[in-house]
Amino acid sequence: MKPFLSLVGLLLLLGPNALAQVPALKIVYADYFPIGVAVHPRMMEPGAEAELIKTQFNSLTAENVMKMGPIQPEEGKFAWENADKIVAFAQANQQKLRGHTLCWHQQTPKWFFTKNDKTVSKKELLKRLKTHIFAVAGRYKGKIYAWDVVNEAVPDTGIALYRETPFFKIIGEEYIEKAFEFAHQADPKALLFYNDYSTENPAKREKIYQLLKRLVDKKVPIHGIGLQGHYNLKNPSAAALEESITKFAALGLQVQITELDVSVYDWEEKEKKPLTPDLAAKQAQHYRMLFEVFRKHHDKITGVTFWNLSDRSSWLDNFPVKGRKDYPLLFDEQGKPKPAFWEVVKF
Ligand code: GLA
Repeated sequence: MKPFLSLVGLLLLLGPNALAQVPALKIVYADYFPIGVAVHPRMMEPGAEAELIKTQFNSLTAENVMKMGPIQPEEGKFAWENADKIVAFAQANQQKLRGHTLCWHQQTPKWFFTKNDKTVSKKELLKRLKTHIFAVAGRYKGKIYAWDVVNEAVPDTGIALYRETPFFKIIGEEYIEKAFEFAHQADPKALLFYNDYSTENPAKREKIYQLLKRLVDKKVPIHGIGLQGHYNLKNPSAAALEESITKFAALGLQVQITELDVSVYDWEEKEKKPLTPDLAAKQAQHYRMLFEVFRKHHDKITGVTFWNLSDRSSWLDNFPVKGRKDYPLLFDEQGKPKPAFWEVVKF
């Protein structure tokens, strides 16, 4: 067969969309940073979602199944199956894998903090934390390149530096450094992150900075800060985002955007709205600005991860307002690129 004919044949075989290729985020950003996505085990089954994950992204994070409760629902009983599926998928497709999360006060079962209906002692809780971290980080040693070790330890308001979580109340502030030390012992090569939201709020940024500085000054094994990046159409400004990136990086830490999405709503906005072309265009401009900042600081940023794959479903559906559908991602409910996608890939 002549080469020309075979090319025509190939195009016929691929169908009418073969020429209108959608660029891949992971390729467009290959010289900047890996592009990740938070996934659910059901997305690992063959199908359109798995294909989108493979073609667009070169890093994965388990949305829920590696959290303390899902992975150790009862003391000493580990539920590995779902997490293993995600690990196997990442390995089979040569994708990086971030671990999320080893120590967090939410989605953590009650048993963790109690014994015979009484609050556990500091010694016992440290032992449980160590056992948990050794089991989880130990199992995935060499397969997970970075862990969110402690999640959301700083309060949103007030002057206190530490959130009043059961970990803080029972152990004191040292639970944070202990979690990092345990993680480092369990997997000495993994990069260890502190992860939080509202990192562009000036007061919270300052508190997080103080927390990180204490850890760095004490030579606690911490390598990076995760800016969750749960944003909306108004926040953050480019200047506020740049300030967070440069301030944290000045401590010698890597910066990653770990849970990126841009809600079309203000946090508790009650009015439900469809994604009109006008709203989609506003969202696209916000994404464009965010990625301009990320690219500008790619010497400090070592990863950008989206919190969910497409608008088909995300944690922002029905949350925090019941019955409210959100459209926070780059792909629509059918997995097709939205205007925001095109603004992120065109530069
Ligand atoms: C926080 C956590 C994530 C996830 C989101 C909501 O940002 O870090 O694991 O629970 O809330 O999906």
